[in-house]
Amino acid sequence: MQLDPDNSKVTDLYKLMIGMVVPRPIAWISTIDREGRHNLAPFSFFNAFSVAPPILGVGIGARRGQGGVVIKKDTLNNIEARGEFVVNIVSLPLAEKMNYTAGEFAPQTSEFEAAGLTAIEGTRVAAPRVEEAPVSMECVLHQTVPLGNSNLVLGKVVFIHIKDEILDEGRISIERLKPVGRLAGDSYCKVEAGAVFELLRPEI
Ligand SMILES: Cc1cc2nc3c(=O)[nH]c(=O)nc-3n(C[C@H](O)[C@H](O)[C@H](O)COP(=O)(O)O)c2cc1C
Repeated sequence: MQLDPDNSKVTDLYKLMIGMVVPRPIAWISTIDREGRHNLAPFSFFNAFSVAPPILGVGIGARRGQGGVVIKKDTLNNIEARGEFVVNIVSLPLAEKMNYTAGEFAPQTSEFEAAGLTAIEGTRVAAPRVEEAPVSMECVLHQTVPLGNSNLVLGKVVFIHIKDEILDEGRISIERLKPVGRLAGDSYCKVEAGAVFELLRPEI
């Protein structure tokens, strides 16, 4: 099969893209709006792009409203309004709650309350973080890059919270972190002890 994206339907391209670029980490993004209301939603077009400065990137797509009109997701509205957000990492026990927060809740509904999660005040940002998450990275908006109907949001990490119980001699233990990855459709993957292997870099 070969494909020219310029001559493909967006829905077909989307299905292929989320099947080809796998597994994807999930940024569970908490934000606060101008009125101080909390919001929480997952995004798997996500990764880290730089360490010094520490930069995370998230692709936020558009939502189709009534009559096909393009509207911004609450997360993007809040990031643009407040210039801040928190990326929480999803561990296996939180997977179902994470999925629940992807529902199209009205802006006035807090997904924290809807999913039974605890919002804690950020240390450096006004946006809340998910207390139950093993890792939370507080970010300030670095840059927004418009990409058609989507936006690439780049955030600089200004404070990091890591639960002590996922650490092993100061390093994050993948077995304790139990991260969840997004695959295509409704599929996810987990990282289990037997599935992890090592490769040494070649000495050339
Ligand atoms: C695991 C998962 C990953 C998702 N990844 C993305 C993504 O990368 N970009 C995006 O625009 N929406 C993504 N979504 C959909 C959003 O979470 C969904 O549109 C949500 O309602 C947005 O909420 P908001 O309007 O409160 O920002 C994802 C949903 C799930 C369950």
